[in-house]
Order: sequence, then C-alpha cells, then structure tokens
Amino acid sequence: MASEKDYDVIVIGAGPGGYVCAIRCAQLGFKTACVEKDKTLGGTCLNVGCIPSKALLQASEKYDEAANHLSDMGIKTGKVSVDLKTMMKHKESVVASNTQGIEFLFKKNKIDWLKGTGSVEKKGEVKVGKDTYKAKHIVVATGSAVATLPGIEIDEKQIVSSTGALDLKEVPKSMVLIGGGVIGLEMGAVWSRLGADVTVVEYMDTIMGGMDNGISKDMQKILTKQGMKFKTGAKVTEAKKTKSGVTLKVEPAKGGDSEELKADIVLVAVGRKPYTDKLGLDKVGVDMDDRGRIKTDSHFKTNVDGIYAIGDVIAGPMLAHKAEDEGVVLAEILAGQAGHINYDAIPGVVYTWPEVASVGKTEEQLKEDGRDYKIGKFPFSANGRARAMNMTDGYVKVLADKKTDRLLGVHIIGANAGDLIQEAVTIIEIGGSAEDIARTCHAHPTLGEAVKEAALATQDGPLHM
Ligand code: NAI
Repeated sequence: MASEKDYDVIVIGAGPGGYVCAIRCAQLGFKTACVEKDKTLGGTCLNVGCIPSKALLQASEKYDEAANHLSDMGIKTGKVSVDLKTMMKHKESVVASNTQGIEFLFKKNKIDWLKGTGSVEKKGEVKVGKDTYKAKHIVVATGSAVATLPGIEIDEKQIVSSTGALDLKEVPKSMVLIGGGVIGLEMGAVWSRLGADVTVVEYMDTIMGGMDNGISKDMQKILTKQGMKFKTGAKVTEAKKTKSGVTLKVEPAKGGDSEELKADIVLVAVGRKPYTDKLGLDKVGVDMDDRGRIKTDSHFKTNVDGIYAIGDVIAGPMLAHKAEDEGVVLAEILAGQAGHINYDAIPGVVYTWPEVASVGKTEEQLKEDGRDYKIGKFPFSANGRARAMNMTDGYVKVLADKKTDRLLGVHIIGANAGDLIQEAVTIIEIGGSAEDIARTCHAHPTLGEAVKEAALATQDGPLHM
C-alpha cells in the first residue's frame, strides 16, 4: 500500500553528510526523514571507505610493527603471521558497530529511515519505491561513486575499486595501483605491509596531488624506503585479464614507448565522481555544472526552491568531514541560524604510516597568490617522544604570513599527524598567528611539541635544534 507522509526535511542519502544533516535537523526541531537504499546506514565512508580502511590500516600496522619493529625495542615475538580471515572479521565488526550506531542515533532523534532509492519527482515531493512523501526542504546528499578508466572494467576480483581492495580473500603477491592519490596510497600501504609487492602508477609527476609539493616528494621517499614502487608521470592504457592475473600497458603520460606490467590484482583509484543516478533532478530542473556536480549557492540552495545539496555531490573536496560540516551548517541555516563553514580550515589526512596531514595553503598556492610567506620546519627526529616511540620519520612544516604572522598552512608527515593537525586547524579557523602556537604551552614529552617548535622556527628559531 502506497503511503503519504509530510516532513519538514527529507534528506536523500545516509552517508556522513546526509545522516549528520538529518540528526542536526531533528535536534533543531524539524520532523525529519532520511532515505537510504543500502542495507545499512553510513554510506561509502562507514561501509566501504574511511572506516573499514582504517580497521585494516590499523591491523596491518600492528602486524608490521610486531613483525619488523618491536625487536628494536627489546620485544621478542617469535614468528608473526597474518590471519586474514580474522583481520577481515575485525573490519566487519568495526563497520557493523558504526552503522548500527547510526541506526540508534536515528531512533534516538526520531528520524524515519525511508528504505529504498529516493527520487525527486516534483518540487516538495520525494518518491521512495511506490511511496510519495512531502517535504518543505529536500536535501540531496547522495555522495560519489568510483570513477573508472575507459577500457578498464572493474570486476571487484582481479581489477578492483577500493570496495574490492577492502575485501581481498588472500594477500596478493603483486598489486598495481592506478592512481597515487589517497585511496591508492592507503590501500597500497595495507597490502604492502601484509606482504604484497606494490607498484603505484601515477599520471602526475608527484603522488598525493594537491598536497604541498615538498611533502608529497618526501612522503614518496619514505614509502619507497618501506618497499612501495612508484611510476610517476605514467598512465595505464590497457588492462588485460589472464588466468594468472592482469597484464597492463603503461605509457609515459606525455606519450612514448609503452611497457608491460603484470600483477595479481589491479586497483583503480583515479578519483570519484558525483552520484546523482535516478534522482530525477533533471525533471525538476536542478542545474548541474560541467563536472556533473549539483550547483548550489553558499547556503547549499540549488536553483530550485526547497532543494538543497551537500557533500561529494557538490563542489569542494570529497571528504567525509567536509560533508558533515555542510550538513550541520545547512540544518542551522534552515532553522534560521547563521550557519558557518570555513573552506580554508578543512584538514586533509592520508592514513599511511607515517600519516600525512595538511590544512590551509600549500607553498605552491601561496606562490601563485603572490603572498610573502615564511617557513618554519621541525623534524620528529629531534622530538623526544618520537624517539621514545621509535617513530622519527617526518617533520612539521608551518607557513605564515611574513608581515602579519597569520598562520596560512601547516603540513605534517609523522606519527599521529592526523591528530596533531587539529591545533593548526583551530588556529587557522580563529584567524590566529604562528606565534599563537609558539607561545602556547605544549605538554612534555609529546609529539605536539614538534608543532610548537615548527611555529617557533618561524619566529626566533626553535629551542631544540
Ligand atoms: P584522488 O583524486 O585522491 O587521486 C587519484 C589519483 O589518480 C590522482 O593523483 C590522479 O592524478 C591519478 N590518475 C588519474 N587518472 C590516472 C590514470 N589514467 N593513470 C594514472 N593515474 C591517474 O582520488 P582517490 O584516491 O581515488 O580518492 C577518491 C576520493 O576519496 C578523493 O577525493 C579522496 O580525497 C577521498 N578519500 C579520502 C580519504 C581520506 O581523507 N583519508 C581516504 C580515501 C579517499
């Protein structure tokens, strides 16, 4: 039986953008529903992205530590081996507890989960299966899908996307990653630690495009030292499946002679594209840009009254925390509050070992903007805690305005860089200076002292170098 129900807000998509938006809307007193077609809530991030990859990164990191590094600290382990089945079970239970957690939050906040594929049939109406629901505000938060390469078909067995790479049944002997971005490096790190021979083929001259150039180059050196191989400035033009694996044709990006690469498993990680399939947005006349993203104004409103969009499906970095913040801001704007988001203060983290974390401007961006800036650097090899942890790879790089000292960017390679970046995010958010970090007391002995020392390096110089 078809049903009809009225809501204040219907959010389409229960990924980090959509489910957080729904929770905030409910907290602000809106009668809220969220449409999700998958069996569990949480979208790509919780089901086949951020969360399962971190479970495998953490587990493989511990394996690598036990197998290769604990003996340096006087811990004898005997032979350490991988039980992939149990490692995958760990991953699955982490995913389940997170997705179930959202179901609990929906119940707690009285948010209705409309199960099925949602589409906007006309203004103010969302169709889910045979049912039609009315809503004052419709929020599209349908996220993104894996981008593919022409002629290379993903079968999730031999040629996999991140989804397949999170679910391999055995450790491959060899693996080629097409794309040296975030997914390529994180998945490459997992399987390389577990024993695969990993080669990254990257179209650009540096890996981790968009990151500060010096950081990308230094990280490539560290990963090379760990055993990963890189072919930068190269593209894959063909991938043929054979009984024993996949044969790839690789060419220089600028053209030239091709070479052959063979691998058991090939991961395609060349980016993601906005997901707007079957949404019916064309029927109601929602404007899209030339990259298939929904066009919105600064308040996430499309050109059609009552229809909004957030997250990967609109412009900006495809990051879960960006989508979450947009979800909160939109809910607050709908409630008549002043929602605020600062796109200059959105951190980016790559969860390799060591981690890479970044916020604000890169040196290349500052040069392009013609800004006069100063640099402060401090290596973890001079930080007592990093030495005690036996994790001295990497450094902190602080970029500040030469005249005003305003903090413009912070880039870190190092243990727990993803947590360390947060103080820089806060200082950039409040428009603070490098001196603000340099004069703030940092507990001793912590890795955070390296952030303070790098900030000091933009002033009169660090204390411990
Ligand atoms: P990406 O945009 O980070 O990297 C894709 C890379 O593939 C680029 O470096 C690009 O130059 C390269 N590429 C493109 N075509 C190529 C070709 N034909 N041959 C060789 N290289 C080619 O995209 P990725 O890694 O697929 O991740 C997708 C999205 O998911 C990104 O927006 C990323 O930010 C997000 N993500 C974020 C994570 C995090 O925050 N830790 C983790 C995983 C994904």
